Parts: sequence; C-alpha cells; structure tokens
Amino acid sequence: MKFSKARRLSGELTIPGDKSISHRSIMFGSIAEGLTEVRGFLQGADCLSTISCFTKMGIPIENKGETVLIHGRGLRGLTAPKEILDCGNSGTTTRLICGILAAQDFDVTLTGDESIRRRPMKRIMEPLSMMGAKIRSIHCNDCAPLAITGCRIHGIHYQSPVASAQVKSAVLLAGLYAEGETRVTESYISRNHSELMLSAFGADIRTENTTAVLRPGNALKGLCITVPGDISSAAFFIAAALIVPNSEVLIRNVGINPTRDGILHVCRQMNGNISILNRKNESGEPTADLLVRSSALQGTVIEGSIIPTLIDELPMLAAMACYAKGTTVIRDAAELKVKESNRITVMAENLRAMGADVTETEDGMIIHGGRPLHGAVIDSKKDHRIAMTFAVTALAAEGETEILDADCVNISYPGFYSDLARLKRE
Ligand code: S3P
Repeated sequence: MKFSKARRLSGELTIPGDKSISHRSIMFGSIAEGLTEVRGFLQGADCLSTISCFTKMGIPIENKGETVLIHGRGLRGLTAPKEILDCGNSGTTTRLICGILAAQDFDVTLTGDESIRRRPMKRIMEPLSMMGAKIRSIHCNDCAPLAITGCRIHGIHYQSPVASAQVKSAVLLAGLYAEGETRVTESYISRNHSELMLSAFGADIRTENTTAVLRPGNALKGLCITVPGDISSAAFFIAAALIVPNSEVLIRNVGINPTRDGILHVCRQMNGNISILNRKNESGEPTADLLVRSSALQGTVIEGSIIPTLIDELPMLAAMACYAKGTTVIRDAAELKVKESNRITVMAENLRAMGADVTETEDGMIIHGGRPLHGAVIDSKKDHRIAMTFAVTALAAEGETEILDADCVNISYPGFYSDLARLKRE
C-alpha cells in the first residue's frame, strides 16, 4: 500500500475500542456467572482470537459487532477444547489465558502464528510453575506451542522482573483459582485494566503501591462493560496531527487511564499542542476527547517509570522524534525487542531508509531530529504498529512510501487506513 505527503489534516474521528480491555472483557466474562454485555468491543483479529479460544471451551459468545454478549459459566464452567487453541498473533491472549488454564481440570495445547511462536513465554511459565502449574514449551524453547496440564495451584508473592501487565494478569488470573493470597510486585506499575475490571466483576483485589493483591474465593458476576477507545490507536492520529503542518484533529473517546497515558506527557514535553476535553468515566476507566494541533516539536528523553505507560506508542514516538528539533533519547525500553517484531531494529532500519539519523541502542534508540525524510519501501514485518507508524510518518515525508504487508493493521485497527484517509486534505 502506498502513502504520500499530506498538505494538512483536519476533522474528527472516534477511536475504536481498547484492545487490552476488549480481551479482558471476553476472558473475565467467560469465567463470570451470567451475562456480560460488552459495548464498543474492538473487532480486531487479536480480540477475535480470544473469542475463538473461549468459544472452543464451551462459552456461548454472540458477536453482534459493536456489542458482544458472553454467557459466562463461572470459574469452573470451561470445558476441554476438542482442538488446539490458536491465539493467532496475540500475546495478550496467549499469556493471560495460561493463567486461567493452569488451574482447570483438563489439559490444553496452545499455539499461535509465526510471531507468537518466537515470543518469550518463560516470563509466565516461571511464576505459574511457582504456583504449582504444569506448563511446558513443546519444543523446549520457552515459546509456544505450550502444553498445559490443569492442576491445583497455590498463591505466591511474585516479584516480577519485568513491568508487564501480561505477566501480572496471568499470575492474578491463576490466583483466582489458587489456595491462599496472590501478590504481584513490579518495579514500575504496568497497565492496571485487569485489576480494575476484576474488581468490577466482584473479585477481592486491591493495589498497594506497585503490588496487586488478590484473595480468591469470590465468584465473578457478569456485568455491562463499555470499552473506551484505545489510546495506543489514538497515538497514530495524535502524531499525525502534530507533524503535518496546519492540522487540527479532534480525536474522540480516548481511554486516558494514567497507566496508559505516557504519550500525552511526552507529547507535552515535546511541545505538542494537545487539549484534553470532555473528561468522562466509562466502566471505571477515564476517557476524554483530544484536540490536537500541529506543533513545532522538540526532542526529549523518554526513560524509566514512564516506559510501561507508553510501551506500544514508542514506535510512533520514535518516528515523531525525527520531525522534532534536537535529539530524542529512548532508554529502558528493551521490551520493544520482544513485541510482535523487534521494534528497536525494525524502527531504526525503516527510519534510516527514509533518511533519518537514528542509532539503535541496547534498550532504545537515539534520534537526531530535523533531517528531512523521504519516501521508502517499508517492511512492516507484519507488525501492525510498525505499519501504522509508517503510514503516518509518510504524511510528512517527500515522495512516496510503500508499506509491505500493510493489511496487518487488522490485528488492532481494521478501519485504520480509511480513518486516516478521511482526515487528509490534498
Ligand atoms: C498488554 C500489555 C503490554 C502491551 C500489549 C498489551 C496487555 O504488554 O505491549 O500490547 O493487554 O496486557 P506487556 O505487559 O507484556 O508489556
């Protein structure tokens, strides 16, 4: 697919549902008692993988588009799937589901696509094994496919070596079935959607600083959830409006949970003009509309505790930094190497192909902004966030940019290209 320079961007759009929250609504709704109604569900391929896994375990799920109805069967209501569970490209599905499956009274094999079969699973196998789970990497490489033998498990206090919501959530979900209390401590707090939503479903869960504490025993009860728009999807339009001159875009319905809003802080630090309007609360998650205007951006340093709050936005921020004056340093972000692609290498290579001055480091990138960018052929490596990042980067570059495997955006944002095209003024 090909992209070229935009003269300006203007108009408004509504961001589709949050991917993390959509996954959790299906998982928690399936192990809750009674009906869960999910509004604003993200119809991305990743979330459809989660629906397919729970359907295979006997949960009736009616996907009506904007609304999804889950007829939950309670903590012990899942049944043994007749086939291997396929998590597709979804790390969230693969890792979170392991927490639930570890404690069932049946055995399961899990797999996923080529990318999933390369991603590290030791990070969940280790704490779940400490809880007594029997979980094995079939090819002994700490990756999927994984064989899980359901068994009795017990609570632990886990000091997580990575600030990862996927690890934290897998352990907490296993904790629902465990004997005794489960605690997960992180160095920096990762996104807290599991804690908020489990609490709304009736679980006994609380947070003490960077520790989540779950006491088992409570049944989960079905409820009505409205999913806010995904700030990780909004990120592409925030960046687009900031870097394309004379732009003004109103981005409606964006989840601004403080464990996810790092991009707003960094954009402000970079002199980005973003107004937060119409603050609301949707099912315990704060939301707002964002009015974004083109800005003369400045380089910045992105490091430390803010990293988990913008981890999925770093590819877009790195590209944005190429259009900023001065140097931007991203560090403490080694996690980028184990996402859907190695996002440090893939970003550095592709930005350099467009003429940017980018140096890859062990845990991030150094970007000297201000060089004019030109179009190039971009290999997205079938990574949805890489494809979207370069569709936006191309809007302020000279000439034409071609993105390979551009349809991978369906993982998290099926309507992305048409939403972007609607804002573009020639
Ligand atoms: C997610 C957590 C993050 C994020 C991913 C979704 C989640 O991963 O990168 O896209 O839904 O919990 P980690 O928690 O492993 O960093």
